[in-house]
Amino acid sequence: MTEVQKPELPEGKHHRRVRSYVKREGRMTKGQARAMEIYWPTMGLEHGNGLVDLAEEFGRDAPVVLEIGFGMGKSLVEMAAAEPDKDFIGIEVHGPGVGACLMAAEEQEVKNLRVFEHDAVEILADCIKDESLDRVQLYFPDPWHKKRHHKRRIVQPEFIETVRRKLKVGGVFHMATDWEHYSEHMLEEMNEAPGFTNTAADGTFVPRPDFRPLTKFEARGQRLGHGVWDLIFARSE
Ligand SMILES: C[S@@+](CC[C@H](N)C(=O)[O-])C[C@H]1O[C@@H](n2cnc3c(N)ncnc32)[C@H](O)[C@@H]1O
Repeated sequence: MTEVQKPELPEGKHHRRVRSYVKREGRMTKGQARAMEIYWPTMGLEHGNGLVDLAEEFGRDAPVVLEIGFGMGKSLVEMAAAEPDKDFIGIEVHGPGVGACLMAAEEQEVKNLRVFEHDAVEILADCIKDESLDRVQLYFPDPWHKKRHHKRRIVQPEFIETVRRKLKVGGVFHMATDWEHYSEHMLEEMNEAPGFTNTAADGTFVPRPDFRPLTKFEARGQRLGHGVWDLIFARSE
């Protein structure tokens, strides 16, 4: 049998290995598909188009907030509506979630939001300029409970360093999780990462800031007595 040689990846392409998600099955509802058809041309951003010129995209120079893994987009849209002085970019791999987000944006008449349907790790590397973001949000990332799956957790040293480079100095990386073990992992990795300062007075977690809406999922968890941990680290260098 002849050995098949793997083609070399062209420079700049990623040797990506472990992803932080498994693509879920699921079809869009009619409403989500309709919202995609109508709003994708103006609100959708494509990985293949490379670096985004944020000022040109939003038609102004405003602070930019980027959210990774927005799920169905409900809280992202709420935040964009509540902070019209900022521009928002959402990234999600789950198609129906992107459709739901565009539907919610339509309902709330949100104009300061653009979305990618793609892996956030690749979007950060290929489409977002260094030192361009004021806030990066990562809310309730997949916790990958089992030890053998921990390598799939998105919060890892390489990812943290990418987030640091994309933030402006002084910009913040805001994470929240309802999985205590993941919150400890986040805290440990962030404390070890160079160039970040914990904004928590006691060097651990912060109370949920007013700008992060309580999600339905989170409210249910709270009723069941689950905890939620917020971490906000600022880029210091
Ligand atoms: C547990 S859900 C939380 C969704 C939402 N943030 C919330 O709080 O309801 C995690 C989401 O992150 C998305 N996700 C995971 N890894 C991702 C990646 N590398 N790029 C984009 N989205 C990702 C998943 O598809 C999923 O929708």
